[in-house]
Amino acid sequence: MPANSMEELVSLCKRRGFIFPSSDIYGGLQGLYDYGPLGVELKNNLKAAWWRSMVYDRDDVEGLDASILTKPTTLQYSGHEATFTDPMVDCRNCKGRFRADHLEAAKCPNCGSGDLTEPRDFNLMFKTAVGPVDDGSSFAYLRPETAQAIFTNFKNVLDATSRRLPFGIAQIGKAFRNEITPRNFIFRVREFEQMELEFFVRPGEDDAWHERWVELRLEWWEQQGVPRDRIELYHVPQDELAHYSKATVDLMYHFPHGVEELEGIANRTDFDLGAHSKGQADLGITSNVPDNRDSNARLAVQDLEAKKWFVPFVIEPSAGVDRGFLAVLNEAYQEQDLGDGKSRTVLSLPSHLAPIKAAVLPLKRNHEGIVAKAKGLKQELQRLGLGRILFEDTGNIGKGYRRHDEVGTPYCMTVDFDSLEDNSVTVRSRDTMEQSRMAMADIPAFLRENLAS
Ligand code: GAP
Repeated sequence: MPANSMEELVSLCKRRGFIFPSSDIYGGLQGLYDYGPLGVELKNNLKAAWWRSMVYDRDDVEGLDASILTKPTTLQYSGHEATFTDPMVDCRNCKGRFRADHLEAAKCPNCGSGDLTEPRDFNLMFKTAVGPVDDGSSFAYLRPETAQAIFTNFKNVLDATSRRLPFGIAQIGKAFRNEITPRNFIFRVREFEQMELEFFVRPGEDDAWHERWVELRLEWWEQQGVPRDRIELYHVPQDELAHYSKATVDLMYHFPHGVEELEGIANRTDFDLGAHSKGQADLGITSNVPDNRDSNARLAVQDLEAKKWFVPFVIEPSAGVDRGFLAVLNEAYQEQDLGDGKSRTVLSLPSHLAPIKAAVLPLKRNHEGIVAKAKGLKQELQRLGLGRILFEDTGNIGKGYRRHDEVGTPYCMTVDFDSLEDNSVTVRSRDTMEQSRMAMADIPAFLRENLAS
């Protein structure tokens, strides 16, 4: 069973060091969070799992890590300057500002007043001055999606790799949106990370690839511990589609606060490459793209048989890292009744996502021989490259086990007095709570096998 409420997750995250409100000691800054010691590990593991499946396990995808600051021209031609808006209303009574499409019954959620302004478009992009003079003459946007730099680098990647269609470009990185009402913990924030793949295909093959990517993404979420029956598919109606999309399927996950978008998989057609391309007329671009007088690159490929250039279509699976983090945490969270009035909180994370893979605990704090042996074991296991192995010298083994259950550590290893004689340790499993004695020499193979998932 997942968590009962968002509060349980927020509390665990703060208590155990997964996530803190940003600028916490100064009262916080709305819509911003910091990932703590365990949060950064889990987040990195989730991103690594995505990168592995997109780039390493496939042979048709290349990676990219582009700038966050983005030239306004890019976001002018992409359509974001004109259309990347949410409808905003003001409450004339309490002066609160809200997203018009999130209001219930046209009432102010703060004070209940019905005296609201007409909705007006509010652009979500953050701007910042570039260079030492802040007079508005030179500015850049903080990118609202990572995708645009993939499109503007299309020719660079193609020239450097000689790729043929179909192929993709993957990127993980920060995106920024000046959300009118950030809310629901890390679900809707102003600074977040995206994992985006732009998969370029021949026009006409786009619908089949779109379906294929929806399936592949559901499979991937299942591997992260988010089962299919917790995700609903939302086929976005025509009148709700983004300006670049011909069809979009949203993966709607059962978050603690409701069923909402975890990932969007869009058929962006030839809109973006077309919009950023020079020579649109020669390319016979038919989509509704802005007339581009600034680009110096033809973002197209050659059809060798027909001896003509064409603009590829693109399928885009775009997942939020923070929303993924929340979904993974929610699915892994369990309150287990152990009988006799006892219970435990356990995070049953897939082991590849666990922030700490194994903890090595000396039975007796400050005991020279036991501590030295435990440290030696930690070093040896760390060198296996399986992720973080923690040496933890608190001396209270029972409490240590409970704490590691709560943060999802799959195995704890206790080094005791017998270990000094027979070089064996007690291995305790998070999921079964079973303890068994194991030779230290066998532990590397044991971990390699059992942390492989
Ligand atoms: N390039 C396409 C794109 O950006 P999107 O549906 O606006 O599409 C993709 O965003 C994903 O980014 C969403 O499915 C969500 O997981 C994440 N996301 C978007 N806005 C977010 C926000 N304010 N806070 C956290 N995650 C967000």
